[in-house]
Amino acid sequence: MKTYGCQMNVYDSQRMSDALAADGYQPTEAIEDADLVLFNTCHIREKAAEKVYSEIGRVRKLKDARARQGRETLVGIAGCVAQAEGREMIRRAPTVDFVIGPQTYHRLPDAVARARAGEKVIATDYPEESKFEHLPHAPRAVQTKRGVAAFLTVQEGCDKFCTFCVVPYTRGSETSRPVRQIVAEAERLAAAGVRELTLLGQNVNGWHGEGPDGREWGLGELLYRLAEVPGIARLRYTTSHPRDMDDALIAAHRDLPALMPYLHLPVQSGSDPILKAMNRRHKASDYLRLIDRIRAARSDIALSGDFIVGFPGETEADFQATLDLIAQVGYAQAFSFKYSPRPGTPGAELGDHVEEAVKDERLQRLQALVNSQQAAFNQGLVGRTIDLLIEKPGRRPDQKVGRSPWLQPVVIDAHLGEIGDLRTVRVTGTGFNTLMAEAA
Ligand code: SAH
Ligand code: SF4
Ligand code: F3S
Repeated sequence: MKTYGCQMNVYDSQRMSDALAADGYQPTEAIEDADLVLFNTCHIREKAAEKVYSEIGRVRKLKDARARQGRETLVGIAGCVAQAEGREMIRRAPTVDFVIGPQTYHRLPDAVARARAGEKVIATDYPEESKFEHLPHAPRAVQTKRGVAAFLTVQEGCDKFCTFCVVPYTRGSETSRPVRQIVAEAERLAAAGVRELTLLGQNVNGWHGEGPDGREWGLGELLYRLAEVPGIARLRYTTSHPRDMDDALIAAHRDLPALMPYLHLPVQSGSDPILKAMNRRHKASDYLRLIDRIRAARSDIALSGDFIVGFPGETEADFQATLDLIAQVGYAQAFSFKYSPRPGTPGAELGDHVEEAVKDERLQRLQALVNSQQAAFNQGLVGRTIDLLIEKPGRRPDQKVGRSPWLQPVVIDAHLGEIGDLRTVRVTGTGFNTLMAEAA
């Protein structure tokens, strides 16, 4: 199994491998040994989607070589490329035995069985209500690298239809998991040693559901409930849309010490005409006001964002507005991308006006700015005491690595505690995105 794309794919891959384990499959590091090769794919930008086709090319040779030794190799494509192009892929690439979309993973064991029997399987159609009748959500997170920190999907899909984005088409419309299921999974994870939960959703703060009190809950109310799960010391959530940051969620940042003071809140652009063309349905000033309200609730909150440069029609003045917004907000971290026209999205109809060289140059300027903000943020922590969750052994045997509240890895002396412990430490230095710390 090889995973591309976002954290939800990481989470889904884990569930798929649990389901396959029930059928006797074991993970392997050596692809030549694999009886089943499954790619969990991402369709967000052209580069991401292209990787699938080069993977298929490579695995075709492997499949042929194994066939000559009389060994069968099944090849499956899961994830967002499967959902978007699976039908076409099965037709054009005979190497591929089955495709399965993100809403259909509960049918994986069946798809594998049918593919083994020689059928070409396309499992990308789904009835809307079956979305969370998924594979078992099992506490396998304890075996991952960040074993005491786990992902938990609470929401899937997106109804926002930003004009550049494929997610509403690949992940379907917004669906929320019921409170009871989420709390049960959180309790299972906590019992398995997990101390930190990151709630996942394409539009995670659009999550809503009926609370045990019979009232309609939003993500804020859900976080208060999850903070009560014994053993869970830290909560995070990603990714949020600015339009869904409601008062209860902001209040949760004020009230819940377990809710980490770090928020990934993408704005994409600082220019109103571009935000409009992107269908973000808010202005730059709305975003800045929102940031002020969040900071008023939790003054030490650090912000992270996503930015797209070179959206069709973006002028130098539009781009400058994005740099101005970044300067005003001050991000602890940011992810930035050159616009990539995606088939089937309204943005793709606009063409791709901004020249590649201009996109490159804007991306560089934007990244120089956010990198300097990130360095300043990290430098500002030196000398301060911070909380740390110890997550894994370090590169050297006398070290361990934990996470700060703001997601940076923190390197400490191994004897400062065990994996899963929370410690207060003093920051002594920084790398680009790493902190060094000692006993406080
Ligand atoms: N659910 C997330 C988005 C996931 S995509 C959210 O709403 O924030 C992650 C990021 O990829 C987006 O925030 C955007 O910055 C970027 N992205 C999405 N589509 C893109 C495209 N066509 N070209 C370039 N970047 C894109
Ligand atoms: Fe894509 Fe926009 Fe939905 Fe995020 S909010 S997943 S960027 S359509
Ligand atoms: Fe990629 Fe699908 Fe995630 S397109 S970013 S794997 S939702």
